[in-house]
Amino acid sequence: MATKSFYITSPIFYPNAKLHMGHVYTMTVCDILSRFERIRGKDVFFLTGSDENTGKVVKAAAEAGQPVEEFLQEIVDNFADLYAKLGIEYSAFIRTTNKEGHWPGAVALWQKLVEAGDIYKSTYVGLYCPQCETFYTEKDLVDGKCPLHGIVPERLDEENYFFKLSKYTNLVKEKIESGELEIVPETRRNEILALLNRGLEDVSFSRPAATVPHGIPVPGDPSQVMYVWCDALTSYISAVGYGHDSKSFEKWWPANVHVMGKDILRFHAAIWPAMLLSAGLPLPKRLLVHGFILSGGQKMSKSIGNVIDPVELIEEYGPEAVRYYVARKISPFEDGDLTRESFKDAYNGDLANGLGNLTSRIMKMAETHLPGPVETESELHSELVVSMERFEVQKAMNHIWAEIGELDATIQEKEPFKLVKTDPEQGREIITDLVRKIAHIGRSLAPFMPATSEKILAAVALNKLDTGLFPRKE
Ligand code: MSP
Repeated sequence: MATKSFYITSPIFYPNAKLHMGHVYTMTVCDILSRFERIRGKDVFFLTGSDENTGKVVKAAAEAGQPVEEFLQEIVDNFADLYAKLGIEYSAFIRTTNKEGHWPGAVALWQKLVEAGDIYKSTYVGLYCPQCETFYTEKDLVDGKCPLHGIVPERLDEENYFFKLSKYTNLVKEKIESGELEIVPETRRNEILALLNRGLEDVSFSRPAATVPHGIPVPGDPSQVMYVWCDALTSYISAVGYGHDSKSFEKWWPANVHVMGKDILRFHAAIWPAMLLSAGLPLPKRLLVHGFILSGGQKMSKSIGNVIDPVELIEEYGPEAVRYYVARKISPFEDGDLTRESFKDAYNGDLANGLGNLTSRIMKMAETHLPGPVETESELHSELVVSMERFEVQKAMNHIWAEIGELDATIQEKEPFKLVKTDPEQGREIITDLVRKIAHIGRSLAPFMPATSEKILAAVALNKLDTGLFPRKE
């Protein structure tokens, strides 16, 4: 039987600033899902990248006094460094300034929309938030400001190309209602269905070339560049070959899942499916829409002083602790919270005193009292598998930590370290069983905390733990 493929994408982030914990959250979830599917034997393609054809980049490069290209290279290298530190293993990094890998796909898709009669020229008079790169109407604003960025949007009066989004309202709705395009969780599905029920308006799909001189020219009209969202969404297909490698495209598309934060659901659940329908392409199978990471209940912001730099956390606690926090302490379906205190508590409580301590106690007993390594099994618990299929990463981690709790309780109740002296046979039996179970925990942890998983399994294979896990932090 042919190996099943699994195509997963993260959003392509704007490279106008360094990545923060929100981006780390999305990327870690994507990596966990990718590793899980790889372990199950699937052929996985995990796409990430950077959304470069935006006015934000033009502005940030100018502020840094650097040419756009040089500025972008530095930031993109910075993304790659952070991902490497976190053990995030993606298959490809698409940059929307890539003229060979991305532009032919973006142009080919634009032409499909034109052929379908879905692109027309008109004048856009209205509001635009350059931070979220979104066209707004008065009623979308909160106190006259962008609902996401709290800034007064720009007033535009431009000749643009428009995409007939309104034409696809009902069809997109049908696809979501029938489950052909599944949106997880249910609350987000309902949110988008409510939006579709109110009806979609056509959307401006290009900007004057002067706004983003390095953007993708509209085919046949170089005075305009493609609207950054039209360009960016297309990267999900161009990166796997659309417009330049049809064999690869057929292998990977449609995506099994697009992962994103709730802020960009509308683009993924309304505009993107409509573009694909217009071009006669299959829709992605699922969207996983996660919440936001807050700090002390508030958005992280420099003025409040609650911004937590992922690099600092990694340096202080190690990448596995960051992966742990993301997977265990934040629900993929709701907003989550992270403060320096909550991180330290989780680290000391669950890792240093929890998993780390348990592993070293069991392996110490095994090394002292067992004749050699214990044979272990590789089956994963079905609850974990079911949770992961539903993207319930936190629930899957809770299963693992419940097992950790059970082992702690067994040691406390049965005191095998004492029993082994009075009844060696029974004592050894209990220790053997504990080793099997810690190996099971080690194996289950592989997608979430790959280095920790390896260390535990290596300790079991050697019947001793060479280096401790998670030293306590004061
Ligand atoms: N470039 C677009 C995406 C195009 S995808 C075709 C974009 N980029 S972004 O840099 O602004 O990243 C937005 C994404 O970052 C969110 O959807 C989410 O995945 C992540 N997060 C940004 N802030 C976040 C939090 N505070 N918490 C969790 N994730 C959030 O939008």
